[in-house]
Amino acid sequence: MSPKLILQELPADLDRERLPKHVAVIMDGNGRWAKRQGLPRIAGHSRGASTLKELLRCCKDWGIEALTTYAFSTENWGRPLEEVDFLMSLFEGKLRQELREMVKEGVKIKFMGNLQALPKSLQAEIERSVAETEQNQGIRFTVATNYGGREEIVQAARAIASQVKLGQVQPEEIDEALFKRYLYTADVCDPDLLIRTSGEMRLSNFMLWQMAYAEIYITDTLWPDFDRKEFHRALCAYQQRNRRFGKV
Ligand code: IPE
Ligand code: IPE
Ligand code: MG
Repeated sequence: MSPKLILQELPADLDRERLPKHVAVIMDGNGRWAKRQGLPRIAGHSRGASTLKELLRCCKDWGIEALTTYAFSTENWGRPLEEVDFLMSLFEGKLRQELREMVKEGVKIKFMGNLQALPKSLQAEIERSVAETEQNQGIRFTVATNYGGREEIVQAARAIASQVKLGQVQPEEIDEALFKRYLYTADVCDPDLLIRTSGEMRLSNFMLWQMAYAEIYITDTLWPDFDRKEFHRALCAYQQRNRRFGKV
């Protein structure tokens, strides 16, 4: 059997019982990958999209319940217009291209972020993919698009304030559990494992609330090169960790 085939099964050195339920990924390094190949940055993004498809399949094969990926931050609008436009049409094209397979494979796709600011045609594709996979029972796959952790917290605070104003919520009732219900991640557990590629040691405004107790794994590998072997390495590192949650 080729190594690729073997890796379709959960590798034997991983304990199925101790897999992270929810994996979050900051997919970084597309531009650097392209530069190293002497290609334009957008070529790195195209390649990165294929990497994501493969990681989603791998998570599904290995029994991960939820995968959340950072595709576009509220700060990424500051990039050159051509790059932003390319990314928006890449998202739209990939969604259109992959929807049938996601439906078939039981993937439940979700998006989080300020989606109203996205191009209308992308919003339509997002709505369609969410609606068509809504009944699926397999892996929950969330794509953070025009997402900012601070924006998420602010919109939650605004929504809660409106409820208070209407008398639906009392200020004393506002606790962590209530607050969580107003976040984009209301119906999913916090990530157990955060992976960031390309060596950068920062959160870049990703899931600030939800990362409170995530295990953080950073690799120098650039996102387009992050394959099953790399994911295996990340899961092995995760299983070595001792998660104490503030206890002894
Ligand atoms: C991540 O790769 C993709 C997005 C942010 C959309 P980058 O485009 O940030 O790649 P680098 O960091 O410039 O190499
Ligand atoms: C974070 O990567 C955003 C995404 C992966 C979508 P960036 O490349 O935008 O982050 P910084 O600028 O290095 O912090
Ligand atoms: Mg980057």
